[in-house]
Amino acid sequence: MGRRHVISRRVTRAAVGVVAAATSLVVAAPATAAAGVGSPGLGDPYFPLAGNGGYDVRHYSLDLDYVRAGNHLDASATITARATQDLRRFDLDLRGFTVTRVTVNLLPASFTRDGQELVITPKVPPRRGKTFFVKVEYQGEPTEVIDPDGSSEGWVPTADGAFVVNEPQGSPGWYPANDNPRDKATYDMAITVPKGITAIGNGRLLSRRDHGGKTTWRWYEDSPMAPYLATATNGVFELRVSRAGRIPLYHAVDPAEVPEGAFDVLAIEAEVIEFFSDLYGPYPFSSGGGVVDHAPEVGYALESQTRSQYDSTPSAGTVVHEIAHQWFGNSVTLTVWPDIWLNEGFATFSEWIYDERHGGPTAQASFDQVYARPATSSIWTRPPGNVGGPRFLFSGTVYDRGAATLQALRVKVGDRTFFRILREWYAHNRNGNVTTADFVRLAEKRSGKRLDAFFDTWLYQPAKPTTW
Ligand code: TRP
Ligand code: ZN
Repeated sequence: MGRRHVISRRVTRAAVGVVAAATSLVVAAPATAAAGVGSPGLGDPYFPLAGNGGYDVRHYSLDLDYVRAGNHLDASATITARATQDLRRFDLDLRGFTVTRVTVNLLPASFTRDGQELVITPKVPPRRGKTFFVKVEYQGEPTEVIDPDGSSEGWVPTADGAFVVNEPQGSPGWYPANDNPRDKATYDMAITVPKGITAIGNGRLLSRRDHGGKTTWRWYEDSPMAPYLATATNGVFELRVSRAGRIPLYHAVDPAEVPEGAFDVLAIEAEVIEFFSDLYGPYPFSSGGGVVDHAPEVGYALESQTRSQYDSTPSAGTVVHEIAHQWFGNSVTLTVWPDIWLNEGFATFSEWIYDERHGGPTAQASFDQVYARPATSSIWTRPPGNVGGPRFLFSGTVYDRGAATLQALRVKVGDRTFFRILREWYAHNRNGNVTTADFVRLAEKRSGKRLDAFFDTWLYQPAKPTTW
């Protein structure tokens, strides 16, 4: 959140400068402001319509009532936001559902639907700088969101509930959002499910209350969270609560995965958190945990904030990877999706260094294995800093060549400087958003070396690096 404010302040100052310098623009700029329409997207190179302009969400309060039989979600979302311009009209991202009522500051608002946009016209436009409240009531069968790479995300029905994961664009498949990683907010969720079903949100469990044939689970995430990291996975689960120091850990396992040893794999979390806390800096959040569902058709795991989601029993390496994402990805978050290596390269390097410090192969040995791949391999022809489109967001290069980039940097600048860079990267950008250019700048500053050619070779050239 902090970073975004810096960015918007910079934009404001630039705009003032332009207006002062060129009188002719005085007319043009206020005309746009007077129109008071929040833009329908934030212009991400891969997902231009994800997110919306004109406001900054502070908090989401989601009230979800889901019955798997019939696959029906009956929900309302109350969003607290601050207007960054006058808002005669603004959008939220929401896919599918029947929207039955929208209010802005408790007054009924008119609304229309346009693709993934819910277009809202408030009775009284929120003024620039003011906090306002939007409530959206909606119900129906959640729409499956299919990623450009063909994978499913959003609210994915399972045999006994739903597996809820949103990277990169599944959130509007179950709640109205400013669906852009730059707009982090806190979340509370009340998830109502048939009695006997467990519903797991992000953060801490506040309460669990039975009423009639239903149970309402209340969760609260008190750290800023990018919309794609929210979850509300539900189904038949065994839930075990433990601790890592003072932090509660919630481990939920589908009964089908208990015999696979899911609880034993999840049990490494306390030690993994301690390890990365020592290496990178204190664990970012006030809770932790993981959910092992039985949804093998999903085909991937996701680092949902404080509550990693596994579609089946993961390997220890995958658990280490998703926990590392709590630092790199969740607390320090990319600004635009083409910078995905900042999430995946860092989490994969974290697996390598974890192995190195736990009697496994050294990170250099892991690097050597990657480097041994032939020049024709797609990790060399597809550079991790420019994968070529959203279809390739999670291709091997962002993981393996991304991690190799960090190991190559480690060798170039030495361990002392390298780990100092990673610690500062986290310390300076906690709860914020970053770009590759920010990382290059920090690495150059701390090492005293020019590294633009190094990073260009590793991140942007469609060829196997030979010298660096
Ligand atoms: N970020 C996930 C990880 O930790 C991977 C992931 C998220 C993914 N969404 C996806 C992979 C969609 C393939 C398709 O590795
Ligand atoms: Zn990952």
